[in-house]
Amino acid sequence: MNKDKIIVALDVDSAEKAVKLAAKLKDDVGAFKVGLQLINSAGLGIFDELKAAGAKNIFYDCKYHDIPNTVKGASEAACAMGIWMFNVHCSGGYAMMKAAADAAKAASEQLGKPRPLVIGVTVLTSIDKETLNNDIRVPGEPAEQVVHLAKLAKEAGLDGVVSSPLEIELIREACGPDFLIVTPGVRPKGADVGDQKRIMTPAEAVAKGSDYLVIGRPITKAEDPAQAARNIAAEL
Ligand code: C5P
Repeated sequence: MNKDKIIVALDVDSAEKAVKLAAKLKDDVGAFKVGLQLINSAGLGIFDELKAAGAKNIFYDCKYHDIPNTVKGASEAACAMGIWMFNVHCSGGYAMMKAAADAAKAASEQLGKPRPLVIGVTVLTSIDKETLNNDIRVPGEPAEQVVHLAKLAKEAGLDGVVSSPLEIELIREACGPDFLIVTPGVRPKGADVGDQKRIMTPAEAVAKGSDYLVIGRPITKAEDPAQAARNIAAEL
């Protein structure tokens, strides 16, 4: 269903605010994203609190990037917490991504829980060519690096990647129809763009091949968040 494609970014600073939003939105969206602001404000108990409020699927935007053994342990722990999706930085390399994917599979089998989806972050959209070339010292265009890392993520057993809507088609072409593409940076028609720059509407992103849309403020700051989510689902 269209609403299942919507992942709401709970970018708030307290468990109370996050739980209120989840309770309002639980029937109109597919999942909720818990990022570092919320986790550092509310603590790990937020996962159970959100589930108690009716949130079925939780995307833990933890962006692991460490040595493979540490990422393995962190991934096992994420499985034990009943996470639906979590992510790692592809720039941690093949072995690190494989450690996350293997750990998610083994730990979920051992725990008898559904396996979380493991998603890679390729090149952050805040990194432009100059930063990539000069600071990180990776030559070439950001899009080339995105495609390279997405292919590596697939080889390592990841389920998909997070990407800018502008890179959906390149990734789809390189990684095939079954590789998940999760896109933030979407804005419904007429919505406030905020600080997002390279945006697309939800319908355009899905038409280009996005599997999940990460949407924050257009829903969470709306007067009626549930109605805003229903409007987006209808637009899809
Ligand atoms: O409020 P808004 O819809 O802009 O929120 C988008 C969410 O997606 C935020 O949680 C943001 O951190 C995340 N995100 C993003 N761009 C990326 C990666 C993640 O906006 N490239």
